[in-house]
This record gives sequence, structure tokens and C-alpha cells, in this order.
Amino acid sequence: MNDILTTVISISAISGTLALLLSIANRTIANYGDKKMLINNEKELIVDGGDTLLSSLIENEIFIPSACGGKGSCGYCKVKVLEGGGEVLPTELGYLTKEDQDGGVRLSCQCKVKEDISIEIPEELFNVKQYDYTVKQNNLVNSTIKHLVLDLPAGKEIDFKPGQYIQILTPTYKGNDEEVYRAYSLASPPSQKHTIELFIGLIPEGICTTYVHTLLKEGQKLTVVGPFGDFYYRESEREMVMVAIGTGMAPIMSILRHMHENKIHRKCTFFFSARNKQELYMMDKIAEFEKDMPNFKFIYSLTRATDEDQWEGDKVRVPDLIKKYLENGANKEAYMCGSPKMIDSAAEALVEIGMEEAFIYYDKFE
Ligand SMILES: Cc1cc2nc3c(=O)[nH]c(=O)nc-3n(C[C@H](O)[C@H](O)[C@H](O)COP(=O)(O)OP(=O)(O)OC[C@H]3O[C@@H](n4cnc5c(N)ncnc54)[C@H](O)[C@@H]3O)c2cc1C
Ligand code: FES
Repeated sequence: MNDILTTVISISAISGTLALLLSIANRTIANYGDKKMLINNEKELIVDGGDTLLSSLIENEIFIPSACGGKGSCGYCKVKVLEGGGEVLPTELGYLTKEDQDGGVRLSCQCKVKEDISIEIPEELFNVKQYDYTVKQNNLVNSTIKHLVLDLPAGKEIDFKPGQYIQILTPTYKGNDEEVYRAYSLASPPSQKHTIELFIGLIPEGICTTYVHTLLKEGQKLTVVGPFGDFYYRESEREMVMVAIGTGMAPIMSILRHMHENKIHRKCTFFFSARNKQELYMMDKIAEFEKDMPNFKFIYSLTRATDEDQWEGDKVRVPDLIKKYLENGANKEAYMCGSPKMIDSAAEALVEIGMEEAFIYYDKFE
């Protein structure tokens, strides 16, 4: 018994000493002092040495996309480092192509500012701002998806392109002790600058979606950063192919609402799939588009229709729907959103029928 007690006390003492040494090291050895950050060869900042590049930028209200909230698992926070930044870390390698590495691209959430640093970021990121929204509405549209409607304070507006996304800053709550950013596509059209709309699916035990689905109520405040993303409506004459499952409907809805409002009558087919009728949503809006937009067509399947659904239509997944109804991908462009698996197989189907990869635009909701 005495031996066990001595072992426990020894381990506790060693852990305590190590924690103390680490904390002293953090405050002394790891104290890099102030560092100079030069952005796009023109803007100079003084930042705290030792912080990640991502947090140093956020600290200065320059917002880089970060769908995983800095965990090094989304690959969205890429920034070109011209000087400083040190060696590429093993945690970055999986997200950097050979071309990225040769060009000095780094994951800003992994790369720490330990010396003066010079970076390059796309100019449009200077337009990304933080907004304090108020929840106007947060209702279920089917069994797992919430339609979140957010209002800006009077006089404030957001500018974005149809298809882009924002990031919600999820606060800490009982059961979640870290603030995290998560990406959500805008479902509203860009003409609607004061109020934004999002579709948010519930992911079991997901930090942000649990917050939105169970704790966020009308009248509460919500911090949003954006807009981000290179998935957006392109002006062109090409025939459009839209593909979505689940909440992937959101950015497609923004694009369709934009086209509807502006009477853009390009030929356009929207392929969608749900498991059963209960999972369908926005059907009234889509019927309105079909009525008013003569070249727009909605094709959907129910992959696990129940007896109640009395469904006699297609039961196949989206890639097979595409293969069935789209003969030729040449001179067309595709807009796709949803799970990475769906996007990969739908893109494969489109390339098989002759669509050029350069005209396949997508956001993988990972
Ligand atoms: C550009 C972009 C746009 C997006 N737009 C939308 C949108 O409009 N609507 C929307 O609902 N989501 C969207 N997402 C996904 C969203 O950003 C979150 O990943 C998702 O809501 C889960 O967040 P969470 O904090 O609740 O879960 P987390 O706490 O991040 O995850 C909890 C666990 O669930 C797993 N997990 C995460 N996502 C999924 C998933 N989809 N399916 C199964 N398991 C999962 C994680 O791996 C983890 O193990 C988008 C993502 C990107 C990158
Ligand atoms: S923020 Fe996701 S990888 Fe850096």
C-alpha cells in the first residue's frame, strides 16, 4: 500500500515539476518578443512572437479562412510566406502540394511567427470583416436542418458573391470549452445585405451544430466572419449543372435566388438527392424557380424512400442521376456542394461525360 502511495506522490511531483518548467519555458525561452510582419510588401504590423500566423492575423482583424478552427485539419488557412516562418512542419505536409511547398505556401494555423516575417495574401481578404449579428429566426426545415436567419445592426451591410460562405464563431458553452470557427454557406442572395440566411445540419456531438440546434435562440448575438471562398456564381454563357445533397442546397439556393432576381435565364439543371421525403426542403422555392425560370430544371432522387413516401421516381445517388439525365458535359459548368465523397464521385461522373475539370466548381463540406 505504501509503495503505491509513494509511486503516486512521485508521479504527481514529477508532473508538477514538468508543468512548472514548461510554464517557465513558455514565459522565458519561448518568449520571442515583438516581431515585424510585412503583408503584400506594403502593410507592416508588429505582432507577438510565438503566436501562430493565423492568430496574429486575426488579432489584427485580418481574417484567413479556417474551417477547422486552427486544428490543422481543413487545409483552408493557406498563406504564402515569402520570408521567415521556418521549416514546413509535418502537420502541414498532408495539405500542401509540391507546388505549394515550392511557392512557400504554409498552413497559417501551424506556422508560428518566431522571426520577422513577410507574407502575401489575396487582396480580397482585406474585405473580410467581423460582424455582430442578432438571431432573427432559428427554425427546423426538416428533421435535421435549421434555417438560421441573422440580422445586422441598423445601417450595417455585408457584401458577398452568391455561393460564398461565412464562418460562425461558436462560443464556449457547457460541454465545450473552446471557441471555434466553422464554415457555413450563405443561402441568401447578395442583394439581401442586412439579413443573411444559412442552412445548418445537426452533426451528432458537433461543437457548432449542437450550439446552433440546441442553445442558440431568437434575439441572441452571434459573431460571424466573412465572406470567404472561391466557390461563387460565374458570369458566362455556359449551361449550368448544379449538384447538392443535404445542406449543400445552401449556396446553390443563393445562386438560384440571385439568378431569379436578376432574370438570368441560362440553361440550368439542379440535381439533388435526399434519403426520403421528410428530408426534402425548400421545395416551394424551387417550384417558384421552375415556374419563373423557363430554362431551369430540378431533378431529384430519394435514395431510401419509405412506404409512406409512395415514391415512384429515381432512387439512385446523385452521380447516377447525373449519368442518367445528362448526356454530355461539354461546354457546361458545374456548381457542387455537399460531402467530399459525393463531390468526388459526381465530379468523376461529369468528367466521364466530357466536362472539363476547370469548369467544375465545388465546396466540400468537410
Ligand atoms: C466551405 C464550407 C461550407 C460549409 N457550409 C455548410 C453549410 O452551409 N451547412 C452546414 O451544415 N455545414 C456546412 N459546412 C460544414 C461545417 O463547416 C461544419 O464542418 C459542420 O457543421 C460540423 O461542425 P461542428 O462544429 O458541429 O462539428 P465538429 O465539432 O467539427 O465535428 C464533430 C465530429 O463530427 C465529424 N463531422 C464533422 N462534419 C461532419 C459531417 N458533415 N458528417 C459527418 N461527420 C462530421 C467530425 O469529423 C468530428 O469527428 C461547410 C464546410 C465548409 C468547409
Ligand atoms: S485552420 Fe484548418 S488547417 Fe489551419
